[in-house]
Amino acid sequence: MTVLLHPRYAKVAAATSDLAGYCPKNPSYLQIRARVNRLIDRYLAIAILSDRLSDLPSQFTTPHTRPWEPINWKGISPDQVIGVDPALFAMIIAGATEIEAPIRAYSQESWDYLEAVHPQMAFFMGGECDAQGSIKAMGVWEKEERQHAPTFRKIYQQLTGEKLQPKPNSVTGYQPNGDPWNAVYHHTLSRITTEWSATAVYLWLMAHSTGDLQQAIAQPLQDEANHLAKFWGFSRWAFAEPFFTQMRGSTHNLVDLLKHHQGERTHSNDLIGTEQLNHAIELTFTLMRVMVRLRAWNKELSPSFLTHLFGTSPLSRCSRGAA
Ligand SMILES: [Fe+2]
Ligand SMILES: [Fe+2]
Repeated sequence: MTVLLHPRYAKVAAATSDLAGYCPKNPSYLQIRARVNRLIDRYLAIAILSDRLSDLPSQFTTPHTRPWEPINWKGISPDQVIGVDPALFAMIIAGATEIEAPIRAYSQESWDYLEAVHPQMAFFMGGECDAQGSIKAMGVWEKEERQHAPTFRKIYQQLTGEKLQPKPNSVTGYQPNGDPWNAVYHHTLSRITTEWSATAVYLWLMAHSTGDLQQAIAQPLQDEANHLAKFWGFSRWAFAEPFFTQMRGSTHNLVDLLKHHQGERTHSNDLIGTEQLNHAIELTFTLMRVMVRLRAWNKELSPSFLTHLFGTSPLSRCSRGAA
């Protein structure tokens, strides 16, 4: 039976909903904000963040990666990009691919810093090496992160029909300064900033996509939220100084990401110039909403819960904070 709708209602019926809630064809700024908020409620609920953090003791004894939902690669297409030029969207995907590499160097760096202060966290990040430096067991963080760059590369190819040739970042590597806790403090701050930025960028990509494209980005997004919760919990256990005040300047990372490929993958700088500002505002909003959620969750992290996860806190032995 065919139901004929009055034209007045046909438009409403055509609007669909997806993982970010109501999905209009041409969303306004306020509708994008609503979609970001919906995604944060879905993927960064207080209960989810607590669950991801309390997963750690079982990771120390029986390491296991977070399972991914299947991705329908063939179903991904440029018409699933909404409210942003598909060329700009693909550029952000290219930037995301590049910040995800080289994971081996990143995980080795984390292992080097953490081994002296919390060997189990070092194992979770960088696994275990033999005397020659070859990997005996890969860390769970590394295994999960290794899936991200190939995922974004495939999404890029599906959207543009072109193969992406990413330029991996250079990694500073382990820089001991004679005080392992001070070195870990700075390393943890940098890891939280990276996971937080990645979470915000992937949420923004999901707010601007639908269907199989959005579903694909939801997989690395959930890994980043998982890692963010674990690092945040570790930092609350290890250091007296909250990180909120240290996070200034991180919004610049997002704008840099937008600028990263300007002029390289598009010949239309005007397109990027006009759209860039609007989307930088949306990205900054997303970054701030994630921080608001982390601050709300932070209140739930009692010293006894953190001791249960990580052991006796160094804070109970001496005062540690920002150095
Ligand atoms: Fe990642
Ligand atoms: Fe990550």
